[in-house]
Amino acid sequence: MEWVAKVRRLVYLVHNLSGDRYNQACFKLTHGTGLHRMNSESSNIFWHQPVVTREMRETRNGHRSSVVWFTGLSGSGKSTLAHAVEGFLHRRNIQTFVFDGDNVRHGLCGDLGFSIGDRAENIRRIGQMSKLFIDAGVIALTAFISPFRVDRQRVRMMVDNDADFLEVWCKCPLEVCESRDVKGLYQRARKGEISDFTGISSPYEEPQNAHLIVNTAELAVEECVQQVVNLLVVRGIVPKMP
Ligand SMILES: Nc1ncnc2c1ncn2[C@@H]1O[C@H](COP(=O)(O)OP(=O)(O)OP(=O)(O)O)[C@@H](O)[C@H]1O
Ligand SMILES: [Mg+2]
Repeated sequence: MEWVAKVRRLVYLVHNLSGDRYNQACFKLTHGTGLHRMNSESSNIFWHQPVVTREMRETRNGHRSSVVWFTGLSGSGKSTLAHAVEGFLHRRNIQTFVFDGDNVRHGLCGDLGFSIGDRAENIRRIGQMSKLFIDAGVIALTAFISPFRVDRQRVRMMVDNDADFLEVWCKCPLEVCESRDVKGLYQRARKGEISDFTGISSPYEEPQNAHLIVNTAELAVEECVQQVVNLLVVRGIVPKMP
């Protein structure tokens, strides 16, 4: 009768929970154990209203803040593109910051591996960090494989306003990513030296409703940058720029 309990729990969750508690529930249902504490469970904490608000920062910056979430296979060009977009925007006085997969795994997420649960926790932390950067008036550009739809969806829900989250799929066939093999990881994964490697021994769930699909196998980096910047302009996040 375990499934009856699961359905009851699901109905309860959908009707009664919101925000992070709903996200936490989704995570537990889809990934099983919920190894990490997914939100603050203390009842003795309070939200201190800031004096300097997001709106004040945005007004001073002359642009809105948001998260641009690059997803795609290893070697699909997430880091290259995120940093190139940042370079373009920085030269035009736009406040930006890149969260890059490997870099955060040296620090903030240094305690996590690549199991499904650890990948989910990795993405949750980056989602929360991005949210703080939105409050700071910054455009956060994140470069994570983020292979599971549920995790990307969770970040989308974490960020209060759907308009603040832009999913950009760096679409590139596995064969091309593998031929690039920028870090030599595909070769090692093929030899069985790396477990849970996305595209080889772990799935990549393609986005179904990305705001932008950039074809990094066929376009030059500069063309892809232009597509991302156009998206930011069309969404009213940055002004039209030369
Ligand atoms: N249009 C393009 N956009 C991005 N990268 C491109 C493009 N065309 C070719 N490349 C090349 O593809 C490679 C992409 O590597 P990159 O490290 O950016 O991938 P990644 O998606 O960040 O991988 P990982 O998930 O392993 O960090 C680079 O060598 C880059 O020069
Ligand atoms: Mg990268």
